[in-house]
Amino acid sequence: MCGIVGYVGKNKAAPLILEGLKRLEYRGYDSAGVAVWQDGGFTVAKKIGRVANLEPEVAKLRLSSSYGMGHTRWATHGGVTDANAHPHVSSDGKIALIHNGVIENYASIKKFLAAKGYTFKSETDTEVLCNAIAYHYAKEPAPGDPTESRFVTAVRKTLRHAEGTYGIVVMAVDAPGELVTARKGSPLILGIGDGESLVASDVAAIVSRTQNVVYLKDGEVAHLTPKNFTITTLAAADVSPVIDKVTWSISDAELNGYAHFMEKEIFEQPQALENTMRGRFSEDGSTAQFGGLNISANEFRSYERFQFLACGTALHACMVTEHLIERFARVPVECDYASEFRYRNTPLDPNTLFFTMSQSGETIDTLAAMREAKRKGYKVLAVNNVVGSTIAREADGGIYQHVGPEVGVASTKAFTSQLLIGAMLALYIGRMRDLSFSDGTEIVQALKGAPDLVRTALKQADHIRGIARRYAHHRDMLFLGRMTLFPVALEGALKLKEISYIHAEGYPAAEMKHGPIALISEHCPSVFFVSSGEMFNKVVSSMQEIKARKGQIIAVCTDGCKLPEGLADEVIPIPECHEAVLPIVATIPVQLLSYYIAVELGRDVDKPRNLAKSVTVE
Ligand code: M6R
Repeated sequence: MCGIVGYVGKNKAAPLILEGLKRLEYRGYDSAGVAVWQDGGFTVAKKIGRVANLEPEVAKLRLSSSYGMGHTRWATHGGVTDANAHPHVSSDGKIALIHNGVIENYASIKKFLAAKGYTFKSETDTEVLCNAIAYHYAKEPAPGDPTESRFVTAVRKTLRHAEGTYGIVVMAVDAPGELVTARKGSPLILGIGDGESLVASDVAAIVSRTQNVVYLKDGEVAHLTPKNFTITTLAAADVSPVIDKVTWSISDAELNGYAHFMEKEIFEQPQALENTMRGRFSEDGSTAQFGGLNISANEFRSYERFQFLACGTALHACMVTEHLIERFARVPVECDYASEFRYRNTPLDPNTLFFTMSQSGETIDTLAAMREAKRKGYKVLAVNNVVGSTIAREADGGIYQHVGPEVGVASTKAFTSQLLIGAMLALYIGRMRDLSFSDGTEIVQALKGAPDLVRTALKQADHIRGIARRYAHHRDMLFLGRMTLFPVALEGALKLKEISYIHAEGYPAAEMKHGPIALISEHCPSVFFVSSGEMFNKVVSSMQEIKARKGQIIAVCTDGCKLPEGLADEVIPIPECHEAVLPIVATIPVQLLSYYIAVELGRDVDKPRNLAKSVTVE
């Protein structure tokens, strides 16, 4: 949830840390702070608000140190204040700490430390952890012990008593040029550079310095110096690190002329879809193939149920996938909120294969649900965008999305890529069962055409911007669709509310008359998804019910639909397409509509209030 970056090397640390924090700001933006080791002590600057607010404070300090760390916060314990911002320094001035996660037993640790004379300036669990490290650091029998091991040992001892989740970076005042970092449940990546070492909660903060990275695992503690790094476990066993290469470069995480990352990522979708499907169709062109499932075709065929788990936008992609698998493969599929599944103890068919979907691969609710399924003996495959993420590593196998970094908090290209993977999975499973060769080839052709259809849909951008201007003043909106377009309606409503703060709800179009219709008046417009085919007349009837109550209608409508004259106040045409591709293409107009409405209202599109890109706390 929070952004973390640490640096030890030969260059000035503060500018590098600030640059890293800006790239991580989408992870949390309630406050930001920096601490460097300078002149034998810590110099700390922290400020509520964005990294931009912090920059002048840091500039005033004229920091020359090449050793430090920084943090962007998404508040959990304690309000949004300068005092609660990270880094925290222990009351004896010996230890500085930044932290992502929640220390659940902080109250009892705090009580213990207070009795020992430690004092606290903030309301945070992080400051408690910081003082606990200082306590163990002070207690170590120093004589004869190298400072390095004393420092690492103190962190290990503290963490053995810490319940909850953490990704931390620690500095000790008498260990200049060293960082200790550890994780449990919150991602951390080491960057191994030329005479410099970095640690960050996301590759985006590292990739401008080095493409050589090590993904730290839960329960590991790393010790970094400019020229070296070692990893041990909490039990002090040595770990042999695996150095991975990041495949994308810094320009992938830059705006490149767009006003916002969300806008850039919407327009990147044709290319993103091409990247997602590259090399994933069989030579005979009748089915999909995936490299990393780690499950043989025979085993796949033996499953009689599929269970999908995810949160937010990714769950909407799972809901479309459910529909397509049931349609193409005739196998029952369940979708669940990961956060609910984990605690509900649902009776499960033993012949069930699990899937999780998560752009970040770090969403704690999804991760915990996956662990619960695995604990019960089920295999779990993961669909993720972030390579090396915790969910990707812990899953039995999976499918990477390959859409590059998604920086905007509102998910766009990751969603359509998940829809594409869902359709490919449905095809793959269908072709193992009753789906014919010719149906398979038709679906493959349709999926291959998706990038061009999305390009066509994107051409409506100016038209949609005009609609956005006309509707931005409304306070409520409904999004209505049927079949695969119902989850797209949910996604449209989520997009609008998260970046514009307009209240929006998604419903199956026919369900609207069972309650939400009470909201309809000239002040509550409805966005309808209309496609030609079996549902057309029924959706038109729902539109008429809205019109009869003076509700305005924006219709996202496939070219082949002939809507009754005057029924829709606004029409956004999309190309006719195969049902496997329709949800992808129908999503584009509502992404653009939400984006332009948010811009019209002057919202902070890429960093909407109260949100963060990946939610790593429960
Ligand atoms: O990284 P994940 O895909 O697991 O994230 C899941 C949700 O937090 C995410 O989709 C969220 O709903 C987005 N802000 C939606 O735009």
